[in-house]
Amino acid sequence: MSKGKKCAKISIIGAGAVGSTTAYALIMAGLATDLVIVDVNKLKTEGEVLDLSHGAGFIKPVNIKAGDYKDTKDSDIVVITAGAAQKPGETRIDLVNKNIKIFESIIPQVVKYSPNSILLVVSNPVDILSYVAYELSGFPKERVIGSGTVLDTSRLKYEISKRLGVDARDVQTYIMGEHGDTEFVSWSLTNIQGIKIDQYAKEINCRYDDVVRTEIHENVKNAAYEVINRKGATFYAIGLAVKRIVEAILGDEKCILPVSTLLNDYYGINDIYLGVPAIVGRNGVEKALKVSLSDDEVQKLKISANTLEDVLNKSFL
Ligand code: NAI
Ligand code: 2OP
Repeated sequence: MSKGKKCAKISIIGAGAVGSTTAYALIMAGLATDLVIVDVNKLKTEGEVLDLSHGAGFIKPVNIKAGDYKDTKDSDIVVITAGAAQKPGETRIDLVNKNIKIFESIIPQVVKYSPNSILLVVSNPVDILSYVAYELSGFPKERVIGSGTVLDTSRLKYEISKRLGVDARDVQTYIMGEHGDTEFVSWSLTNIQGIKIDQYAKEINCRYDDVVRTEIHENVKNAAYEVINRKGATFYAIGLAVKRIVEAILGDEKCILPVSTLLNDYYGINDIYLGVPAIVGRNGVEKALKVSLSDDEVQKLKISANTLEDVLNKSFL
C-alpha cells in the first residue's frame, strides 16, 4: 500500500450484522474506492450490496460488489467478520471451534488473492481467531490485526464520560487484555486530557472510588451481553471501531489503538494475541507499546493471556 493512501480496495468477509454495518461505516467515511463483500449466503450479500449502493447519491464514488474470493484480488485490507455469533447466554469463547473451522476455509482463499493485504479480524473470539489467522496466513504479525479492545475502550470512554459529564473523546484510557470476560481497565493510565482521573473527579466534586470503578468495569465487560439479550447482536459500535482502525491504517496515522496483536516478551507474555495499546499505520501494527501498568493490572493481563493460551491449546495448537 502506498504511503498515506487514504482510499483503497477493501474486502469484507461476512455480510451479517457486523459485516454490513462495517461496510456502511466505511462508505460513509469514504475510505474505499472498491468494496467487495463475500459471504456463503450470496443472496443476502447481493441484497446488502444493492441497499448500500443505493446511497450513491450521498457518498464518495465507490464500487461495491457481492463477490467471490477472486473478486477480492489485490485488496489492501481484508476485514473478516464471518462466522457464528453469540446467542444469549453464550460467551465469545463458546464460538471458538465453529469459527476456527470457518477460518480454515476462509484464510487460504484470502491469502491466495491478496498476499500483500492486511487482515483485520473481527469475528469472535477475536484474539484467538487473530492468532489462527496469523498462523494460517503465514503473514508477518504486523499484517494480522484483531479489533481487540478498541470497541471495549470506546464503551469505557462512554461510561466514564457519563459519570464525569465530560466528552468521551477527552477520556484517555484503555480496556486491555482479552476482548472478553477477562478484560480489565488500565485505571493507572486513565486521565481526562492529561488530568489524572481522580484529580478531575475531585475538581468537579464527583464520586470516584473502588465502587465506582467496579461498576464501570462491570458495565463495560457486560455491555455486549446486555445488547445481545435485548436485540440479538451488537453491530453499530463495532462498525465504527473497524472504520477507525481502517482509517488509521490507510492514513498511515501512527495513532495508538488497543488492537489485538501478537505479544512477545510483554510483561513475560509470549506468543499470544491480546489487546494492548499499539501504534497503527500503513504497515499494520507497527509496535505494541509496553505501557506502565500497576502490579494488579499486570496480574490481570497475565490472567487474560493464560485463559487464551488454554483455549488455543485445546482448540488449535
Ligand atoms: P451474523 O450471524 O449476522 O453474520 C455472520 C455471517 O458470516 C453470516 O452472514 C454468515 O452467512 C457468514 N458466514 C458464515 N460462514 C461463512 C464462511 N465460511 N464464509 C463466509 N461467510 C460465512 O453475525 P454478526 O453479528 O455479523 O457477527 C459476526 C462475528 O463478529 C461474530 O463472531 C461476532 O461474535 C463477532 N463480533 C465481534 C465484535 C468485536 O468487537 N470483535 C463485535 C461484534 C461481533
Ligand atoms: C461485542 O463486544 C459481541 O464481541 C462482541 O459487542
